[in-house]
Amino acid sequence: MTITVREVGPGFAAEITGIDLSSAPTDADIEQLRNVWMENKVAILPNQSLSDEDLIDFTKRMGPLFVHVRSMFHSPNHPEIMIVSNLKEDGRALGALGDGDLGWHTDQCYTAKPCWATLLYGIEVPADGGNTNFADLCAAYEALPDDLRAEVEGKRVVYSVLAETVSKKSPLSAEQRARTPDVTQPLVRKHPYLDRKALYVSPNHYVRIEGMSQADSDRLFRRLADWIGQEKFVYSHDWRVGDIVLWDNTSVVHRRDAFPSTQRRFLKRTGFHLPDELSVPV
Ligand code: OGA
Ligand code: MN
Repeated sequence: MTITVREVGPGFAAEITGIDLSSAPTDADIEQLRNVWMENKVAILPNQSLSDEDLIDFTKRMGPLFVHVRSMFHSPNHPEIMIVSNLKEDGRALGALGDGDLGWHTDQCYTAKPCWATLLYGIEVPADGGNTNFADLCAAYEALPDDLRAEVEGKRVVYSVLAETVSKKSPLSAEQRARTPDVTQPLVRKHPYLDRKALYVSPNHYVRIEGMSQADSDRLFRRLADWIGQEKFVYSHDWRVGDIVLWDNTSVVHRRDAFPSTQRRFLKRTGFHLPDELSVPV
């Protein structure tokens, strides 16, 4: 397989062409893809045509499969696939609409072992808006002014699934909540394989920074949240049908843009974990 890699964002995010995920990529192909993806933090694979089984098989070859706690949005017959959509059937929402609604977040940071990667596959995409935006948390960390860099060092943040707006609209059952207690995460995270550090912040799930008053914590966190969203750190993905977009939750945050409710957006979502011994953020 000969792939072509084209950078599409400011110093990160790569479009990768020359690979058809439905035609049984070899182990070497998967290894190459994993390396390009890790280096670039976000990988975009256009023009894919995948059955649910193909999508699950590919995700499984990248790492241990993730299954989302919100089982009401699982794809029928395939709990490994979650539906991300604004569509309704008989008044029932078919999917979550991006678990963080419109704010910056990193996926499942409210669990002790957050999923490493999230993958979205575009089935129906709106003509206007609905982009997925990514901010490079490594670049954001490296560019921090000295005072902020000193302030974030060694700090830990409490995150909660209940802080998400979706938790208010679609509350978790008592059993689901029991499986997702609040956790703390380091504010600066080392990549599990690469020699790089990133800010590890998820404004949508934030509760407080440990060891600070709520007011001081909110002030610092707000500064960081504003910092990461600067245009120079952001790639905005304008969806085309058949796009697979795969991101590294250790190194980017993401958020969806609004789009007209009269337009259809239907994405399939999978994810994979780190190996267990590397999966607690440090
Ligand atoms: C998600 C998510 C964003 C989008 O699925 O975790 O944040 O653009 N999706 O749908
Ligand atoms: Mn998300």
